[in-house]
Amino acid sequence: MTQTILKINSSGRTQDSLTRNGVNQVVDWFKRQDFQTQVIERDLNHSLPFIDEVWIDANFTSSENRTSNQQHALNKSNELINELFQSDLIVIGLPIYNFSIPATLKAWIDQVSRAKVTFQYTEKGPEGLIKNKQAILVYASGGTPLGSEIDFATPYLKYILGFIGIDDVTIIDTNQENKNNWSLDQQLSAIKQKEKKYA
Ligand SMILES: Cc1cc2nc3c(=O)[nH]c(=O)nc-3n(C[C@H](O)[C@H](O)[C@H](O)COP(=O)(O)O)c2cc1C
Repeated sequence: MTQTILKINSSGRTQDSLTRNGVNQVVDWFKRQDFQTQVIERDLNHSLPFIDEVWIDANFTSSENRTSNQQHALNKSNELINELFQSDLIVIGLPIYNFSIPATLKAWIDQVSRAKVTFQYTEKGPEGLIKNKQAILVYASGGTPLGSEIDFATPYLKYILGFIGIDDVTIIDTNQENKNNWSLDQQLSAIKQKEKKYA
């Protein structure tokens, strides 16, 4: 079975970026396991629009009643959501910016979090609709330790990914991995093993 990886980068740096380097290493590892692996590239440096009034109105209008202007406003969102549905594994570069996630990554979240498309409310509460996926967050900071009380980024990102259905999230800490010479094999093998469960 061909695996599709959605590769998302959000570092503003294209040179010497720990997260871009880490994301590449993770994706290359999976490509080495299976030469048929397909990769969808989404570089958030090519900025996404912020959601605005037209977008919000469009989102709350049923699809059959949307004006062409409203349909147009949701085009990018639909494209990004399709990328998620097409993928088996989502690898996200997560640099810490000002104790949080980069604004470009938040813009992506705002585009892909859509009621009745990627989540819905049921009698039992919210249900994420992007099912049977795994995500890997490749974390880098200048000093904020992963999982510390000032790490506001990873709890949020894990929560919102879970909210849209992606509740199997592994975090790779490049700050630690660099000290350990990238002993990634074990972590990535465990993720690879779980693919069968989600197939
Ligand atoms: C605009 C900006 C804000 C940053 N804010 C923080 C921060 O609040 N806490 C921290 O530990 N590191 C912070 N850093 C350092 C980055 O997290 C660190 O350089 C990381 O390696 C960036 O990822 P990259 O190497 O993939 O670009 C900041 C860096 C930039 C460019």
